[in-house]
Amino acid sequence: MKRLLAALFRAAVVPALTLVPAFGPMAFAADADGRQFVEMSPEARAEMRAEMLDFQTALHSIIAALGERKFNDAADTAEKMIGVSAMGRHRMSPPNARPGMFMTNEMHAIARGMHVAGSDFAKVAKANKDGKGDPTKALVALQAVTGACVACHRSYRTQ
Ligand code: HEC
Repeated sequence: MKRLLAALFRAAVVPALTLVPAFGPMAFAADADGRQFVEMSPEARAEMRAEMLDFQTALHSIIAALGERKFNDAADTAEKMIGVSAMGRHRMSPPNARPGMFMTNEMHAIARGMHVAGSDFAKVAKANKDGKGDPTKALVALQAVTGACVACHRSYRTQ
């Protein structure tokens, strides 16, 4: 048993320790978090998280569709789930559950930019009448979408 534990220690802990110099300082990243804090109600944050998980799932499906050269599927998912068609999802919620009510103008602008980029991607990715699409152009257009995810996440925090 002792030997097993020692082996486990060597296998798991020692490699982890050797990583400490590289990753150690990250443990304190929250202390030096330069992102702007945006205070939201718990209801708005819950709505936002649900929406975010849908964005992430959409992105995953879009990349899978592009990999399978299903350009129209990628385009349709992007328009429906991320594009301008996906705007106003919280319109019917009470004001305190609408994330947009708590966003700064700039944060809102990034959000709108993401929806527009989603629709732009859908147009670029759509297959032509021969059923063909251009994966390179589609990826470039998709980067505008992921760029908006990154821009918002790197600029703002809600906790
Ligand atoms: C306008 C700002 C903004 C944009 C744009 C944005 N996010 Fe977020 N995202 C947030 C904030 C704020 C949170 C943290 C919400 C909270 O927990 O309070 C978050 C959280 C998340 C989470 C974690 C959800 C959870 O369960 O905690 C995921 C995943 C995510 N975003 C994915 C994405 C993806 C993918 C995109 C782009 C397609 C994106 N987000 C675009 C602001 C944004």
